[in-house]
Amino acid sequence: MNERIWSVVVPAMMLAACGQAGGDSAAPASPGETAFAQCRSCHGVEPGVNGVGPSLHGVVGRAAGSLAGYGYSAQMRGSSLTWDRATLERYLAAPQDVVPGSRMVWVVVDAAARTAIIDYLETQR
Ligand code: HEC
Repeated sequence: MNERIWSVVVPAMMLAACGQAGGDSAAPASPGETAFAQCRSCHGVEPGVNGVGPSLHGVVGRAAGSLAGYGYSAQMRGSSLTWDRATLERYLAAPQDVVPGSRMVWVVVDAAARTAIIDYLETQR
């Protein structure tokens, strides 16, 4: 009798645990992660993995053009900027105004999308 109860209860507990883990990984993407999709063709957020653009892992607080192993333009390397929130905000709105001659020409027109992307980048450290 006891044995039969456990054969029902234990698999049910295992299912519950699986359900929880599955729920986490299926969590909907944050607005920032969704907006960051437009950057992904050139940028990843994995440390040390550069694409057309440099890895944006830990970019918030980083000196512009400072990642070893990525071939920045001379303009980006010489810009003396630090990627704090305000600088990122200006750069994403008008990269060519902030770093004239930068090889990045991508513009994020929508202010809410810029904020969401910067929120997301702050979590990638
Ligand atoms: C078409 C390719 C492309 C897209 C799309 C793109 N970038 Fe870039 N990005 C680059 C390149 C190339 C550089 C290097 C520029 C240079 O060296 O002048 C760069 C540089 C940067 C830098 C400076 C990083 C550093 O280490 O100094 C930041 C920040 C950045 N991009 C953010 C973004 C974000 C956020 C998005 C999405 C909204 C985005 N980029 C979309 C190509 C791209």
